[in-house]
Amino acid sequence: MLVGKATPDDYNLHPSKYPWAYDLYNQAVRNTWFPHEIALKEDLDDWAKMTEDERHAVEFLVAFFNPAELIVNRSIALGIYPHLKSAECHLYLAKQMWEEANHCVAFEYVLQTFPLDREKVFQLHDQVPSMRAKEAFVNKYMKRMTEDELDVSTIEGKRDFVRNLVATNVVMEGIWFYSGFMVALSFRQRNQLRNLGSMINWVLRDESLHLKFGINLIHNILEENPDLVTPEFAAEIKAIIIEGVDLETTFNKDLFPRGILGLNADYVNQYVQYVADRRLTELGLDKHYNATNPAKWMSTATDVFELVNFFESQNTNYEVNSGDSEKKKAA
Ligand SMILES: [Fe+2]
Ligand SMILES: [Fe+2]
Repeated sequence: MLVGKATPDDYNLHPSKYPWAYDLYNQAVRNTWFPHEIALKEDLDDWAKMTEDERHAVEFLVAFFNPAELIVNRSIALGIYPHLKSAECHLYLAKQMWEEANHCVAFEYVLQTFPLDREKVFQLHDQVPSMRAKEAFVNKYMKRMTEDELDVSTIEGKRDFVRNLVATNVVMEGIWFYSGFMVALSFRQRNQLRNLGSMINWVLRDESLHLKFGINLIHNILEENPDLVTPEFAAEIKAIIIEGVDLETTFNKDLFPRGILGLNADYVNQYVQYVADRRLTELGLDKHYNATNPAKWMSTATDVFELVNFFESQNTNYEVNSGDSEKKKAA
């Protein structure tokens, strides 16, 4: 069983009960990167030529992303890791937590390189209502995981575990982050901020594994606990995702008060709906929006489809060190 209180057996890596999690750990290790490998300074010429609205979009995204990386880590540390019994999952989550720390440092590098007012940027997530609302949404589910009466051996406790996983992993990492990455990568699409684009691509490669892990985890938990699966619970999961989309829609109005070249809130919101439908499908739920992908270039620039397809055993295209001869088992 995945969810429960760890016993001494759960500290043994072998015999392996969840080889897919170990495979993802090995993949994540191969994907290791460091922010200063990227020559971010070379983007400063582009920055000087950007409009105020374009700079606002970058600043606003960094203001959200920087604390968000650490909020994901809190959710793992308080709400996910302590309630899992699998050694393979613990290995994977330890690597994921390092990656989130690395992403936080990467965004700090952006703040140090671009002429942004760090103090102001750090305050935004606590001042802008649409950003506060996104954080409150994730914190609400995380808080439940820290309450004394939480008992993950019960059906309701397991449902709380899944709710938190959906809010953190599917909504925050799998929808909100993808939306922000698409906006950041749209600059590179117009031949601007190419180094920032490379950094975002590496973050996105990590996030796609985080999402793969989370979706696999949800599927395995539901498989092991068939009594969790009711039409009411399915509807509740779908409602959490729709609420996440609504929060992002409000956030995007503040991200683009006037729109920028080739991008406005409607365009990004359509992408958010498209990605949300994909997440619903990946969870085995019906689509809600039936939105088409307005950013088809994303599937060539970063291949969202392939990155999040958890039936694929690996994504060799994106490995930093693909010369590694280790053969991977099917996930
Ligand atoms: Fe991250
Ligand atoms: Fe992540």
